[in-house]
Amino acid sequence: MANVGIISLGHYLPERRLTNADLAKMVETSDEWITSRTGIKERRIAGTKEKTSDMAIGAAREALEKSGLDPAKVELIIVATISPDSNFPSMACLVQKAIGAKKATAFDISAACSGFLYALTTAKQFIQSGFCKNALVIASEKISNLIDWNDRSTCVLFGDGAGACLLGTVRAPRGVISEYLHAQGQFGDLMTVKTAERHPLDQHKKETHLPYVVMQGQELFKVAVNSMAEAVQIAAKKAKIKLSDIDWVVPHQANDRIISAVAKKLNFPKEKIFVNIDKYGNMSAASIAVALYEAVEQQKIKKGDHVVLVAFGAGLVSAANVVRW
Ligand code: ACO
Repeated sequence: MANVGIISLGHYLPERRLTNADLAKMVETSDEWITSRTGIKERRIAGTKEKTSDMAIGAAREALEKSGLDPAKVELIIVATISPDSNFPSMACLVQKAIGAKKATAFDISAACSGFLYALTTAKQFIQSGFCKNALVIASEKISNLIDWNDRSTCVLFGDGAGACLLGTVRAPRGVISEYLHAQGQFGDLMTVKTAERHPLDQHKKETHLPYVVMQGQELFKVAVNSMAEAVQIAAKKAKIKLSDIDWVVPHQANDRIISAVAKKLNFPKEKIFVNIDKYGNMSAASIAVALYEAVEQQKIKKGDHVVLVAFGAGLVSAANVVRW
């Protein structure tokens, strides 16, 4: 079977920074509370005219430019998102149009914060089966659209952004060498989006500020730590490597305390875990894509490294991949 690997990476971050000090003017919170409980200092917030699809297109363009691949030769586009511009058309179709990937198959995946890894693993199967030769995998989120900005327990945690990678065939030993995708629907109630019901007979109902995220933070915390630690172990076992062979872990960035707890549970050095939550908060599916982009740009991840990508998200869904860089 063909070895499938990451050829290039791209990202897109909105210009506007929302700091903890800004949030302290909006809700009853403080920089001290947010920093000590989460590790977040600031996050990016997309402008009113800056859509999820715009960010996806920006990240896709950078990944394509870096690869040198003619957009007309892209054969598959998958966008992971839980915050699309609208229910349809899919974000992947909007990317296809914008970049001129006329030949590409295009669809979206909804797996919350595990979305980038669900999309990466799906695209890998399409390439290995011979369905296509390459795939653009994008994660883009405008989570700010799903937040109740009066709710201090959620509004301090999230941010907007996008990341992308081009997948293609690579020479062994490089490539995405293992994958683990898991779902625990029994924990679905821990994080949901409260939405508005519309019925033709309910004309008296007023529009509200729905939809918005509701979450049981403490319960999620515990499941997140267990799920991510287990995902790292399973993906490493499938790749036939020991935890001591791992050079970098690039985890979903939901809370720095979750990341520290995973490191402790695995007895894995925190210095080998890439963290950028201080700058961006939780960008859902886009978190790992942007973190991987930065870890490579900063030359932390080097050729030959074993990199573990690991996520958990609403659903609950967890996922991990081992990538030989
Ligand atoms: N500022 C100040 N005080 C606050 C804030 C805030 N922003 N938010 C909550 N508080 C208060 C609470 O009201 C509570 O006050 P009380 O003791 O008087 O009742 C107190 O702080 C403690 O609240 P807890 O919820 O117990 O705080 P905790 O230490 O658990 O931290 C947090 C909360 C940061 C949400 C944590 O539980 C967490 O990170 N959980 C995981 C969340 C997560 O990962 N979500 C995303 C997963 S899925 C996905 O990414 C799509």
